[in-house]
Amino acid sequence: MRFKSKDEFNGHIKNVLITQAEIREAVEKAGKLIDSFYDGSPILLVSILKGAFVFMSDLSRAVSVPCEIGFMAAKSYFESMQSSGNVEITMDLTQDISGYHVIIVEDIIDTGRTLSEVVKLLKKRSPLSLRIFTLMDKPERRLVDLKADYSLFTIPDRFVIGYGLDYGEYYRNLPYIAEFEE
Ligand code: IMP
Ligand code: MG
Repeated sequence: MRFKSKDEFNGHIKNVLITQAEIREAVEKAGKLIDSFYDGSPILLVSILKGAFVFMSDLSRAVSVPCEIGFMAAKSYFESMQSSGNVEITMDLTQDISGYHVIIVEDIIDTGRTLSEVVKLLKKRSPLSLRIFTLMDKPERRLVDLKADYSLFTIPDRFVIGYGLDYGEYYRNLPYIAEFEE
């Protein structure tokens, strides 16, 4: 995707849905919740690139109990294939997760298909526990039975950009979350 001008780029930013201040406040709260859940036990925060990289960066700094950080990358093939085995892990964790309480730090749960496959995979590796913390949830769009343990914001069925989320790889660096204007 290419933009001819900054005006064209900005023209696709419809309205701010969640402000920087709202995000900051919610992330602080989520960090304190993690502190209270896992007092001192080995914690691994895991995100699936790229969407959750900003949320991971802020949430990890809102956590004050000892924790490690891990990243994975996945590719989904839901269009061309059916049922399971349709998520390819293109970058895996380097840690053996069997000794950790794992918290998946996700940007947004939409249909839930990608994350549900990743959860199945991680559960097979026998973590001490597994929880999902998602920045946003679009429950109207869900196609599989998947619930986050904690969602910072529930949003309607709109395409959103910013704070890690992209449209054609752009807008990830917006410091707020906005609705995308076609
Ligand atoms: P799903 O839950 O398997 O359908 O896929 C979720 C992934 O799709 C998220 O992790 C995002 O990377 C991406 N996604 C879903 N909804 C949006 C959106 O509104 N804006 C940007 N990316 C989105
Ligand atoms: Mg994602």
